[in-house]
Amino acid sequence: MTNLLSLIRRSSPRKSPLPFDMFETSYSDAEARRARRMESIYHAGQAKIWDGREVLAKAIAKHGKPQLSAEKRRALSKIFGTIMWGELAAWKISAQLADRLVPLEAKLAAASQVHDEARHFYVMHDYLEALGEPSVKIEYWAERVLRKVLETDNLLKKLVGMQLTVETIALVSFQRVRELEIEPVLTELMGFFERDEARHIGLGLQLVPQLMSELSIAGAVDLALFQLDMLMTTLVSLKTIEKHLLALGVDPRSLLGIAFRRQADIDEKIRAEFPKWPKDPPLARVFEGFCEALFPSEGSGVSVPVGVRIAHAFEVAMKKRASVFEQWGLKTEVPRSAPLGVTVEPPPA
Ligand SMILES: [Fe+2]
Ligand SMILES: [Fe+2]
Repeated sequence: MTNLLSLIRRSSPRKSPLPFDMFETSYSDAEARRARRMESIYHAGQAKIWDGREVLAKAIAKHGKPQLSAEKRRALSKIFGTIMWGELAAWKISAQLADRLVPLEAKLAAASQVHDEARHFYVMHDYLEALGEPSVKIEYWAERVLRKVLETDNLLKKLVGMQLTVETIALVSFQRVRELEIEPVLTELMGFFERDEARHIGLGLQLVPQLMSELSIAGAVDLALFQLDMLMTTLVSLKTIEKHLLALGVDPRSLLGIAFRRQADIDEKIRAEFPKWPKDPPLARVFEGFCEALFPSEGSGVSVPVGVRIAHAFEVAMKKRASVFEQWGLKTEVPRSAPLGVTVEPPPA
């Protein structure tokens, strides 16, 4: 008899593509609970499925073809062109997971994600075509993040990179674009995308903590370096597209704040089952310092000398200065003068 963790550990390229002993399992109560949650991701996906062609056509019939100024159209296409290619990467990565994961429930969840990401890809392509900007290339740093996750053979890195990093970024971007009502057809689409992406994070939530709890010190360091690489590359990518975000009225710090808030929610859920899950890990604090250096709290339009940025970043890392999470992402104690983005609602059910 095999427990869930042993089955997951076997989720690597194997000699036999058909694991005939996959049902010879003996799950603990906690594992059985996790397995049921993963299975429900598949069934919820089926129950809440939507027809991308119909939803896009109805939104265009209701609001008319997307109409924006040339500057905003260009900015939107740069950002959502990158997101479109991100959807293709998510499609391929979830297909890798659906192939490799051995436990039935995890395989079902990944298979359901494959179908969702395929829909996200073609809907985003059709939207950009309606916008008049169908063939936009992805920028270098975003492509690097996706390539790293696509190419790694390490299952845990793939899950951390896809389910807990790329999915969170997608969810945050969709939420912010919906909240700001940048373009009505896109605003309508975002609610549908968000609902699907929130489900996809669920697979990571069920698998990652247990796999991490089994890591050796060397394995944990290797994973932490991979995570830091993912996060730093994402931050540089955000800096690269900053001018496009600002052209649409999106403050990059609001995206960072919501992303940190989402991460805190994920950590809370994981801690409910794994009480040893680290609170306020040094890695997160260092990353918040980098965020301050690249996106100073003085605001995007203010010129802050490099020396001051470095000093402020150091203060954030040492907890002597409020981080972007504390300024934008906290659920409570939000200053009255706080900018848009501090009130973070959960995605639609
Ligand atoms: Fe997606
Ligand atoms: Fe997704």
